[in-house]
Amino acid sequence: MGRAKKVVLAYSGGVDTSVCIPYLKQEWGVEEVITLAADLGQGDELEPVREKALKSGASESLVVDVKDSFVKDYAFAAIQANALYENRYPLGTALARPLIAKILVEVAEKYGADAIAHGCTGKGNDQVRFDVSCTALNPNLKILAPAREWGMSREETIAYGEKFGIPAPVKKSSPYSIDKNLLGRSIEAGVLEDPKFEPPEEIYEMTKAIVDTPNEPEYLEIGFTRGIPTTINGTPKAPVQLIQELNQIVGSHGIGRIDMIENRLVGIKSREIYESPAMVVLINAHRDLESLTLTADVSQYKRGIEETYTKLVYNGLWYSPLKAALDAFVQKTQERVSGVVRIKLFKGNATIVGRWSDNSLYTPDLATYGAEDQFDHKAAEGFIYVWGLPTRIWAQTGK
Ligand code: ARG
Repeated sequence: MGRAKKVVLAYSGGVDTSVCIPYLKQEWGVEEVITLAADLGQGDELEPVREKALKSGASESLVVDVKDSFVKDYAFAAIQANALYENRYPLGTALARPLIAKILVEVAEKYGADAIAHGCTGKGNDQVRFDVSCTALNPNLKILAPAREWGMSREETIAYGEKFGIPAPVKKSSPYSIDKNLLGRSIEAGVLEDPKFEPPEEIYEMTKAIVDTPNEPEYLEIGFTRGIPTTINGTPKAPVQLIQELNQIVGSHGIGRIDMIENRLVGIKSREIYESPAMVVLINAHRDLESLTLTADVSQYKRGIEETYTKLVYNGLWYSPLKAALDAFVQKTQERVSGVVRIKLFKGNATIVGRWSDNSLYTPDLATYGAEDQFDHKAAEGFIYVWGLPTRIWAQTGK
């Protein structure tokens, strides 16, 4: 009796997920492996990936284009929440996992599978995100993670695959571990494991080195409707196209590189390099527009919500009740977050240089230092008396 009969495996075409196919069948007695590759805009050719799964022993090999949902339902929600993990990482990898989990569960239900499988090891965040998301969506499905248990080195994994007709990688495979999609690239391992070592230029693909960026600034106007980016320089853009174009424009100015030491959920600190040009600029622009259109108390209270939200997403709790409750809060706050933010792109910097909105709470008659000033200065005196009263009484009372 195997661990499961019919399994849906999250498939990337790499050695590890390919080896999972014979491994599940040979070692764990699985009868049928259906693979599922998600097109998240990673830019890889997916037809060869589809065929490779069949050659590796999958009974069925599916490729699903989820780019549109990825941007609309995951990236845009994260922008509305200004989600930057530890103040810096725009969650490109973390946001993809709950969506992959969702389609894994849908396929498993459609094909009557009894388990889901993925190729994550036991050290990262992604295993947590897959397992918890799948469980949240269908607690009856088993979750199998062969790479968490098989204990094979890279060489052993390749040798195991070769026994079952999975070719060893032709070119010397990259020394880095890279996850990429529309929202950016996450790069780890190799020389980057030394936190004092400057990342070599060769690791970057979406962002230019500063020496190669234009010598003239470029202006960019991003329009938002209820917290969702909808236009670039006044032209309406479909969600996927908007992200793709912004990645290109912003990346060409060397903006969106992040080099950080990050705290993983499993307790390990890791050195991570990200490039995420569109998301970095969109979150900054969105936050700026909020400062124009939200009241002080909502804006300040939301900071705390954002931090909790970001941690939940990073820690694999996308489909949790707290996340759903925070979503409702964030959605309510976005009703008036519409307008335009003007940004100057130059030599690695995206500087916000202007913003406007029909819902602007900025009141020129009150803010001005000029003669048009409508603010009642005398009213300040009574306000300060009351505001300072507790402090006055404290100061006057015993020592
Ligand atoms: N540390 C990031 C996260 O947990 C990215 C992990 C990406 N994986 C990789 N193989 N580089 O979201």
